[in-house]
Amino acid sequence: MKNYKEIIAKMSFEEKAVLLTGGAALSTCGNERLSIPEITMSDGPHGVRRLIGHPTCPQECNIDRGDVCYPTASAVGATWNISIAYEMGAAVARDCLEEGINMLLAPAVNMKRTPHCGRNFEYYSEDPVLSGMLAAEFINGVQESGVGTSLKHYAANNQEIDRGTVNVEIDERTLREYYLKVFEIVLKNSNPTSVMCAYNKLNGIWCSENKYLLNDILKEEWGYGGLVVSDWGAVHDIGKALASGLDLSMPRNKLIVEELKHCIELNTVSMEDIDRAVEAMLKFTDRIKALPINSEKYSRRKQHDIAYKAAAEAITLLKNDDNILPITSKKYKKIAVIGKAAQYPSFMGGGSSCVSVDKEAVDIPIDYIRKCAGDEIEVTYCPGFAYEDGFFNMQGNDGGVERAVSGVKEAAANADIVLVFVTDNYGGEAETEEIDRQNLMFPNYVNYSIALAQKHCENVVVIMQTGSAIIPYQWHDKVKGIVQMWYAGEACGKVIADVLFGKVNPSGKLSETFILKERMDLDYPGDGVKVCYNENNNVAYHYYDLHSDEIWYPFGHGLSYTTFEYSDIKIDKNKFVNENVSATVSFTLKNTGPLCGKEIVQMYIKACDSIIARPVKELKKFSKTELLPGEEKKITFSITNDDLVYYNVCLRKWHIENGRYKIMIGASSLDIRLSTDVEVYNDCDYSKDLISGAMVL
Ligand code: BGC
Repeated sequence: MKNYKEIIAKMSFEEKAVLLTGGAALSTCGNERLSIPEITMSDGPHGVRRLIGHPTCPQECNIDRGDVCYPTASAVGATWNISIAYEMGAAVARDCLEEGINMLLAPAVNMKRTPHCGRNFEYYSEDPVLSGMLAAEFINGVQESGVGTSLKHYAANNQEIDRGTVNVEIDERTLREYYLKVFEIVLKNSNPTSVMCAYNKLNGIWCSENKYLLNDILKEEWGYGGLVVSDWGAVHDIGKALASGLDLSMPRNKLIVEELKHCIELNTVSMEDIDRAVEAMLKFTDRIKALPINSEKYSRRKQHDIAYKAAAEAITLLKNDDNILPITSKKYKKIAVIGKAAQYPSFMGGGSSCVSVDKEAVDIPIDYIRKCAGDEIEVTYCPGFAYEDGFFNMQGNDGGVERAVSGVKEAAANADIVLVFVTDNYGGEAETEEIDRQNLMFPNYVNYSIALAQKHCENVVVIMQTGSAIIPYQWHDKVKGIVQMWYAGEACGKVIADVLFGKVNPSGKLSETFILKERMDLDYPGDGVKVCYNENNNVAYHYYDLHSDEIWYPFGHGLSYTTFEYSDIKIDKNKFVNENVSATVSFTLKNTGPLCGKEIVQMYIKACDSIIARPVKELKKFSKTELLPGEEKKITFSITNDDLVYYNVCLRKWHIENGRYKIMIGASSLDIRLSTDVEVYNDCDYSKDLISGAMVL
């Protein structure tokens, strides 16, 4: 094993200091004398983002070919398929190798506290178990070929407004059980080369210099041995940051030598802290293998196919009244496709994750709809209303509005079925970094297009291209079909056509609750200085479990063209007295419909006898299973202590309460099909004493 201490002993102060900051915008500093290589990085979660022409862009990179754009993380969340996450990670790693990138600045796993967050499309889901398992497999997939990852943004960066200044106040239990839980799960199931700390403050201290977060929890309690890197520009005081557990401050800080000398004089950082960070950097650069560019084996086509495969599992069928879908020539002879989003789809969001995709690589929905329709079905396309050049053309006086209205009316009136393509990405980037979504509804002209189509044709399907939850308008209970397409990446057009025509049986389920109205009790976006998470753990579906009238479609919901039956639940042991919990729940899943399909099953647990406030239920396990018509399979889930605990702030550790726990198997968070229970009794149950304050630690 390499003797890092020996190398560090040979380094000058200046050499150590510059190693702890970037060499450029997206690379670290190398050191020729000591043979320390430069590490090149790239965003982001759904494809490599090369800054072509920028000095950080590796010279070897092939600028004739655009980047591959995979579905964004919220769509990957809707696949509920950890193998897909792995495969996508492995594919993005191949893109990295092809472009000379050593480390991908992904995945991003912040929880979706509010649908307003501009980066929700970059985050997998509103649940720590779902996000954590997917992110871990993505990391395992990327790192398999030696490319590094950066798990971000640690922690509580749940809004973009004021992200660089806001102080997020969260109580310890909520922090542990929700906002940190996802990072803990990722780190239990993978070993990312780096963790990126967030911009914001947490409970009064910048995340980049938050010893409790970086040192005490991440490094000591969770035993994380990789590199802790700052978000870009998130370091305010390099001395305090290094003393608190940060290792690398990004991007380049030209004054780091002077700043660190000053910090030593002020005693905010010690030479031991600096040496510790230098050692972390040396280990990190050694860990990321410098693999050669691999053009010969690289197939752009195969990468696109993986983007297709991931999107095909993400598309979520929300509503399918009267089996309006799939489209067949028996059912329909004339289709009207309405909406510019059918020709110019929104398939990713904005900000640092935005890739420079090849225009030719993007599959256009209307083209593929025409291909699927063939000669037997007539397809009419009408762009309808559109937001152009910053001005919605309804405001124009060139007759555009009248043309659009009569176009939609005519197309709908002459069709057997109308497909209305809508996006929230009107006029640019509705979902992006640094700004939050101000409006959670589609613009009026979009709602109007749907209403108009619905007035002239009884068979209307709305296809939504959004990166995260959207609030519907009055049309939602009048149309027969609703498909959530997400930001589905460059293969979006072929995928959606294949789903609409039944070549792909939809199998995505919502990775976040779709709501009818915005909850008004959240402190959001705060007062400009701080935001208090007073709702505690009462977030996401935990909140909507108590307010089901506010749900449009629940967390975990998604339909298929086939049907599934759940039966015969069993648990191999249902009482645990003074022993660790170790049970297996099993049940039978059967495809009772006419087509092969995939079903996502979810296991939730409720603490029935709890004497403290706990969520109605929490997701603990999930799986996705493919079944042929008539086929059945036994599905099993394990239950251990980890699935029953809550974070006890007096004990400052995870704790199991005595009592009964209900185990629920569901097709969504609101559609529980089977249940059983398990009881736990430990002689030493501190919870009552601790709650009543009788026990002082
Ligand atoms: C974003 C990070 C990103 C970094 C580098 C920051 O603004 O928050 O997610 O990795 O820029 O582009």
